[in-house]
Amino acid sequence: MTRLKMGIIGVGGIAQGRHIPSFLELQDKVDLIAVQDVNEVRAEEVAEKYNIPHVFKDYQDMFEKVDAVTICTPNKFHAEISIAALEAGVHVLCEKPMAITVEECEAMIAAAEKNERLLSIAYHYRYTPEAKLAKKAIVHNEIGDPLVTRVQAMRRRKVPGWGVFTNKDLQGGGSLIDFGCHLLDLALWLLDDPEPVEVMGRTYDRLSKTPGLVNDWGVFDHETFNVDDHVTSYITFKNGESMQFECSWAANIKEDSTTLTISGADGGISVYPFELYQAKYGALLDSTAKIRDGEPTPGLSQATNFVDSCLGEDELIVKPEQALKVTKLIEAIYQSSEKGTSIKL
Ligand SMILES: NC(=O)c1ccc[n+]([C@@H]2O[C@H](COP(=O)([O-])OP(=O)(O)OC[C@H]3O[C@@H](n4cnc5c(N)ncnc54)[C@H](O)[C@@H]3O)[C@@H](O)[C@H]2O)c1
Repeated sequence: MTRLKMGIIGVGGIAQGRHIPSFLELQDKVDLIAVQDVNEVRAEEVAEKYNIPHVFKDYQDMFEKVDAVTICTPNKFHAEISIAALEAGVHVLCEKPMAITVEECEAMIAAAEKNERLLSIAYHYRYTPEAKLAKKAIVHNEIGDPLVTRVQAMRRRKVPGWGVFTNKDLQGGGSLIDFGCHLLDLALWLLDDPEPVEVMGRTYDRLSKTPGLVNDWGVFDHETFNVDDHVTSYITFKNGESMQFECSWAANIKEDSTTLTISGADGGISVYPFELYQAKYGALLDSTAKIRDGEPTPGLSQATNFVDSCLGEDELIVKPEQALKVTKLIEAIYQSSEKGTSIKL
């Protein structure tokens, strides 16, 4: 196979904002031929706008026509649709999080293995220039063994006021499963997938449950809001490493920040912005990076890796077993908060 026939399921914000433009940039190897959405009017409009020839009412009918699908529905449907596609012999790129529960993720992996199809998850932070550089620096042993990781994925009063982000049934949670998941994935990838052994977590929703919250990202109903807007966690790993994690959609802080730092035995690294901290020649040395113009967007790099992997020309960067580990941590953080105790994995 030299060209890939691609379909998109769920054509809302992320499909139109990231995946469709990326696949259209890869026209030398991808034919974007089909869309499906429960909102049939939206599916027709998107097909017309982007010149996509086929619109299906039922995604099962799409599977006969395509080699791969990109799934961009609310989280509740990720597992069900991925498994249906894999069973039909179709490769899957599924939006993050992989699914709401570990059980669902395991069923997705089993379906991929049984049908010998590829399954990847859209953890696109890995393709940011800073993250790629951090990965290279760590692989080249610039910081030695990682010891302590600090993650903060923080927004000041920005609860998404659109879509279904504040609906627990459809999304499985709030700031953690939606935003924190990206940074958990990135941290685990940079650390080379250490095995988590114990997780302590706390979730909060008090700001978003308050009537009349001053919110910068639109309006939502504080009465039906039933997910977390701020989460803290402490995670320990089998190899002795530990991670301090915090994420929020609605913190009372000075400004938004996305921070991931790793302090290692020989040096340290900060991903955003990229900085390397070392001790050499009897001095403390700091290195920064100039991110060069013309770097492909993370969305394009993600699409390229998935398409090339389906065509047998590359290997998936985001492997389903890695995305499962992220969901394991998310599930454990939620359980820990609910039970008021740490969770042993
Ligand atoms: N990678 C990222 O940074 C990022 C950013 C935003 C959203 N997302 C993820 O993408 C997914 C979609 O988010 P969005 O912001 O595009 O939401 P959205 O509400 O804008 O779009 C979702 C679309 O899915 C359709 N849909 C709902 N149920 C469906 C079903 N059963 N079958 C087919 N279509 C269905 C809806 O009609 C809608 O058009 C979520 O899983 C979200 O976590 C990822």
